[in-house]
Amino acid sequence: MSDPDRLQALAEHGVEVHAFPESWTALAADVLHGLSTTPKTLPPKWFYDARGSELFDAICNQPEYYPTRTEAALLEDVGARIAAEVPAAEVIELGSGSSTKSPLLLDPLHDAGALRRYVPVDVSAAAIEGAIPGLVERYPGLEIDARICDFTTDLHGLPRPNGDPRIVAFLGSTIGNLQPVEVQAFLAQVRPLLGPDDALLLGTDLVKDVGVLEPAYDDAAGVTADFNRNVLAVINRELLADFALDAFDHEAMWNPVLERIEIRLRSVRDQVVRIRGLGLEVTFQAGESILTEISRKFRRGGLERAYAQAGLRLRGWYQDPDAWYALSLASPRA
Ligand code: SAH
Ligand code: AVI
Repeated sequence: MSDPDRLQALAEHGVEVHAFPESWTALAADVLHGLSTTPKTLPPKWFYDARGSELFDAICNQPEYYPTRTEAALLEDVGARIAAEVPAAEVIELGSGSSTKSPLLLDPLHDAGALRRYVPVDVSAAAIEGAIPGLVERYPGLEIDARICDFTTDLHGLPRPNGDPRIVAFLGSTIGNLQPVEVQAFLAQVRPLLGPDDALLLGTDLVKDVGVLEPAYDDAAGVTADFNRNVLAVINRELLADFALDAFDHEAMWNPVLERIEIRLRSVRDQVVRIRGLGLEVTFQAGESILTEISRKFRRGGLERAYAQAGLRLRGWYQDPDAWYALSLASPRA
């Protein structure tokens, strides 16, 4: 949850913060729906309270979790080419989190004298608040207009294109946490944020060996397991539930047909969980699971089709030498 004093402090640094934080009602509706259906599911955005955002950053430092360092190395390599291709005055970054990799894009734009405004967008107030002081210090004079909101529903509230070149960045392969139909709805919302020659810069993890994929989502130190169970801690706190976190095992499995990692919490025994805030009792049988996240892995052809359906054209494709990860640039103009 957001701390109004911290937001005020950021405003005093000239940073604009527009907060449409997630409501109790939205969490209640998602939990009621997700835990009353079979199989049980929960949307992944509820992982990201302050603790969840911290745990995600810790995941990025685990040796098994290759996406962050692979994307960072790639961006380091091609950031200047991207800045030359789209000399953006404005960067809108969706799911910016702690903005750790953002300088790899912002620096070349800044060095070229192009960059004027950065708009980080994230559902986690804690992540945004944590990211901004470093950005203020690194880029004096940069206009920062932070948005705390949901990128699947609230993009219509973002500034429209005004003729200045713009990049909408969506890094980290967070698009992989959306179902295919959600991806199309998402791209349809991104499209009006782009002028004809503006670009979406999208980070996507690519299909690869199961022996690399599964450990990335089940690290030896147990950080991903803690991140997964954190959604239960969020429900306990916000909805007065009594989930015993150690009564659920973390599980990450590659689904080769749907080409996605499936992350679940599996009940270790028969149990009944009370969610007092909803007046609800949820029954779990031993071995029954909650699907808490999917992490889809991509191929170039599938992405090109998704872009085309949304009225976007692939104009740049950059991948690492092992073909583990890709950054793509897509624009409206044919
Ligand atoms: N871009 C960063 C962070 C990725 S983690 C990186 O590449 O490392 C995913 C980020 O998306 C988190 O910061 C999380 O809070 C945010 N997020 C997840 N679902 C979201 C949603 N529906 N709307 C807005 N932000 C969301
Ligand atoms: C944010 N997202 C892209 C991460 C992923 O790889 O799907 C979330 C994550 N879940 C477990 N580990 C990382």
